[in-house]
Amino acid sequence: MAINWFPGHMNVTKKAIIERMKEIDVVIEMLDARLPGSSANPMLAELTGTRHKLKILNKQDVADPERTAAWLAWYNAQEGTQAIALDASDTAPAQRLIKACRELAPNRGGMAKPLRVLICGIPNVGKSTLMNTLVGKKAAKTGDEAGITKIEQRINLASDFYLFDTPGMLWPKITIEQGGYNLAASGAVGRNAYDEEEVALELLARLKGPYAALLAARYKLDDVAGIPALHDDVLLTEIGRKRGAVMTGGRVNLQKAAEIVLNDFRSAILGPITLETPEEFAQWAAVAEEAEAERQRKKAARNKKGSGRRQDDDDDQED
Ligand code: G4P
Repeated sequence: MAINWFPGHMNVTKKAIIERMKEIDVVIEMLDARLPGSSANPMLAELTGTRHKLKILNKQDVADPERTAAWLAWYNAQEGTQAIALDASDTAPAQRLIKACRELAPNRGGMAKPLRVLICGIPNVGKSTLMNTLVGKKAAKTGDEAGITKIEQRINLASDFYLFDTPGMLWPKITIEQGGYNLAASGAVGRNAYDEEEVALELLARLKGPYAALLAARYKLDDVAGIPALHDDVLLTEIGRKRGAVMTGGRVNLQKAAEIVLNDFRSAILGPITLETPEEFAQWAAVAEEAEAERQRKKAARNKKGSGRRQDDDDDQED
């Protein structure tokens, strides 16, 4: 799937994060609870190194609670990592956030050693909403501070607790194909960057097994038990027919049907849904890693043969 990223903006953000990271104790990564693995930025893992991590599974109100519990357990089992689930209805998230960060870095605290925390997340994950709640209720936003880049802001959640904000950051290219589709389905990616019908078909492929009952209820499909076995395009066609996305002559308008499915998922009209389990995502990541390793091997072999191509004259876009 071709995605049109914006490496310029992304690199500015990346540089700001690298600069700030030197004096950070805990990195908070906001994830979309409907797609925790796919909404995690692999570049961030590289940048944060061994620092303590707090994963916030945000928008838990629209995610599948059982799967959210599985993801929390998955992250909490990782060394130096804690995870909490949040949503915008939580009017006082600061307490939970501060408590988790203090537990992760117990050696920090007090005016002499304030706890310095960086918060990151992909666009649309709900970071501004959370920051507004934090700023409105608890914190004083600080203005221009020497050494802090313009694109970054700091708020003090307590006298010895500094929270540095970064702009939403996507990554240079998608290596986990299923993750790319999940991101597109969630609305994290601009709509010109993908084909809606393709993304809707992938979305239905994820939904028809675990969430057949939700699809049946929303689209008035009769045979719930038969849904998992349906071809994705048959399912999309049937949904289009049920929702009146029909052209003159009776053919289903698949583009319209795709828009309906995507909108219903994004607005959570379908019900609480999570598109991936930790195990599923780990499997996708392993396959992608192997494919990437193979690609690197081939590239190295080509360069060795001296084919005349500039080294790295490939599809890497970063830097
Ligand atoms: P960002 O800074 O990370 O880019 O995200 P932002 O806070 O702007 O939130 C992106 C969208 O997600 C917004 O919806 C926002 O209302 C919604 N959102 C944020 N937190 C939550 C949450 O906990 N649960 C749910 N269900 N939604 C959340 P929007 O449609 O883009 O805008 P609007 O409807 O708020 O105007």
